[in-house]
Amino acid sequence: MTAAVRTIATQPFDDQRAGTAGLRKKVQVFQQANYLENFVQSVFDTHPGFAGTTLVLGGDGRYHNDTAIQTILAMAAANGVARVIVGLGGIVSTPAASHLIRKYDAHGGFILSASHNPAGPRGDFGIKFNIRGGGQAASALTDAIYARSCEIDRYRCVDADTIDLHNLGTQTLGDLTIEVIDTTEDYAELMESLFDFDAIRALLTSDFRFAFDAMHAVTGPYAKRLFVERLGASPDSVRNAVPLPDFGGGHPDPNLVYAADLADEVITRGALDFAAASDGDGDRNMILGRGLFVSPGDSLAVLAANARLIPAYRDGIAGAARSMPTSRALDAVAAQQGFEAFETPTGWKFFCNLLDAGRIAVCGEESFGTGSDHVREKDGLWAVMAWLNLLAARRGESVADVLQAHWKTFGRHYYERHDYEDLSGEQADRVMQALRQQLTALPGRQFEGLTVTVADEFSYDDPIDGSRAEGQGLRVVFGDDARIVVRKSGTGTSGATLRLYLEERRSDEWELTLPTREVLSALASVADTLCGLREHTGRDAPSLIT
Ligand code: G1P
Ligand code: ZN
Repeated sequence: MTAAVRTIATQPFDDQRAGTAGLRKKVQVFQQANYLENFVQSVFDTHPGFAGTTLVLGGDGRYHNDTAIQTILAMAAANGVARVIVGLGGIVSTPAASHLIRKYDAHGGFILSASHNPAGPRGDFGIKFNIRGGGQAASALTDAIYARSCEIDRYRCVDADTIDLHNLGTQTLGDLTIEVIDTTEDYAELMESLFDFDAIRALLTSDFRFAFDAMHAVTGPYAKRLFVERLGASPDSVRNAVPLPDFGGGHPDPNLVYAADLADEVITRGALDFAAASDGDGDRNMILGRGLFVSPGDSLAVLAANARLIPAYRDGIAGAARSMPTSRALDAVAAQQGFEAFETPTGWKFFCNLLDAGRIAVCGEESFGTGSDHVREKDGLWAVMAWLNLLAARRGESVADVLQAHWKTFGRHYYERHDYEDLSGEQADRVMQALRQQLTALPGRQFEGLTVTVADEFSYDDPIDGSRAEGQGLRVVFGDDARIVVRKSGTGTSGATLRLYLEERRSDEWELTLPTREVLSALASVADTLCGLREHTGRDAPSLIT
C-alpha cells in the first residue's frame, strides 16, 4: 500500500552539530517541533544512497525512544528507504546496532541514545547516524550534516498509524517494510562466534561467584540471553535487567561512583569473584574482581596481552589502539609483544578506519570503553565476555592474580581522570589557555623529580584516509614515567566539562600495589600548578574522579 509523502516546511536550528558521539541534548530540546525531523532529514539529504536500502533503528530505551522511532519510521518511508530493522520494543544496544548494520549489510542506522547520561523527561536524549559497516559517521560527514541542518527548510514524512514495536514480525508503511526483530539472538550468536562458550559455561556453573549489573538500561535483555540462557549462569546473577525509560532514576555510568553498591560488594566485602556493569546504551563496561577495580586502561592492556586465549584471536593480533588520554599500559604490551600500537583522538569513530583496514583488532578508551573488530562501536558485554574467557582459560587465577602478573611483566600505569563539570565555557577555556601558553617552554623543565619531554596540543593524522584532527587535547609528557592530559568534553548537554587525566608508571615490585590516590597526588599538584585549575575554576576539587 502506498502512503502519500508529505513535504513539511521547517526552519533550521543552529545547534545540531554532533559532539564526540552524535547529537545529545536535553529531552525538551528534542521535543521541540521539527527538531528531530530536521536532524534526520539533514542526514537523508547529506549522505547519499538511501533509496531502496535497509536501515537499522533502535535505542537504549530511554524516555522519548519510542516517540522518536515512530517519527524516524515515517520519515524513512518518505525518503525511499526499503526496509528498516527495528529492535523489539525499540530497544537495540549500541554495539548490537553496529553488528546488525554489518550483518544485514544495511546502508546505515540511527541509534537513539545519550549513553550514560540520566534519562526521563528532564534528562537527556541523543541520536547518531552510523554508516554502512557499522561505524559512527566520520567528522567530514557529521560536518556536512550540520551544514545542511543550518539551512534546511523542509522535511519529508508519510502519515502513519503508530507502528507496533512490541511484537516480532513484519509490517509495511507505504513502500517501506518494517521488521521488528529480537536483536539479543543476533548478538548472542555473534558472541558465540568469538569466544569459548564451553569454557565460560564451565566457569559460570562452578562455584565462581559472578554478577552483571545492567543498571536498568539496555544490556539487561542481552545479558539474560547470554549469561543465563546460553551460558548457564544463575538468573539472579544478572541484576537490574529490565530497561526502564528513566533507568530507574539512576545514572547508568559503570564506574565506582555510579555503581557504588556493586563496587562495595566486590571490592570492600569481597563477596563476588568477578562482577561487571554496563552503561545506558551498552557500550561501556566496568570490570571488578574480588577486592579490586580494574582500571579501563589496564583492562585494555590485559586483554591485548592475553588475546591469544580468545578463540577469535588465537593467532595473535596485528595491532591495538587507545585514545590519547587513555593510559599507556597498552603501549608497554605492544612494545614487548611486537604488535602495532596507535594513539587516536578521543571518540570511538577514530578507531573505525584502523579496524576496517585490519590494522588493529582491539581498542579502548579510559572512559570504560573496550572493544574489538567484531563491531565498530565499543562493546560492554564483549569486554565482560573477554574477561570471562580469559579467566576460564587461566582457570584458578583470580582477577587480582592476572593483574599482578601483568604489572610484574609490563609495569603498572596508575591512572585517574578528574572531571570538572558544569563550568562555564570561559572557565574551561581559561584553564586550557593557561596550559596552552606554557607548552613551548615546558620541555626540559622538572616537576617533582619528573622531567618534561614533550608538551603539545595533540593532533592526529589518520593513517588510512589521511584526514587530520586538530585541537584534541593538551598533553605534558614526562618520558615513559608520567603524563598529564587536559581536554574539554564533547558530550555534555549543559555548561562545559573539563577532564584532567593523570598517569604515572611504576615498575619496581614493591610499588605495584600502592593506593592510586597516593601515587598520583604529586602529579595532581603539578597539574594544578601548570593549569591553575583551582584558580580558574574556583573549585577545590573535581566533581568526579574515575
Ligand atoms: C566521553 C569519553 C570518550 C567517549 C565518549 C562517548 O567523551 O571521554 O572517551 O568516547 O564520551 O562515550 P567526552 O565527553 O570526553 O568528549
Ligand atoms: Zn554509552
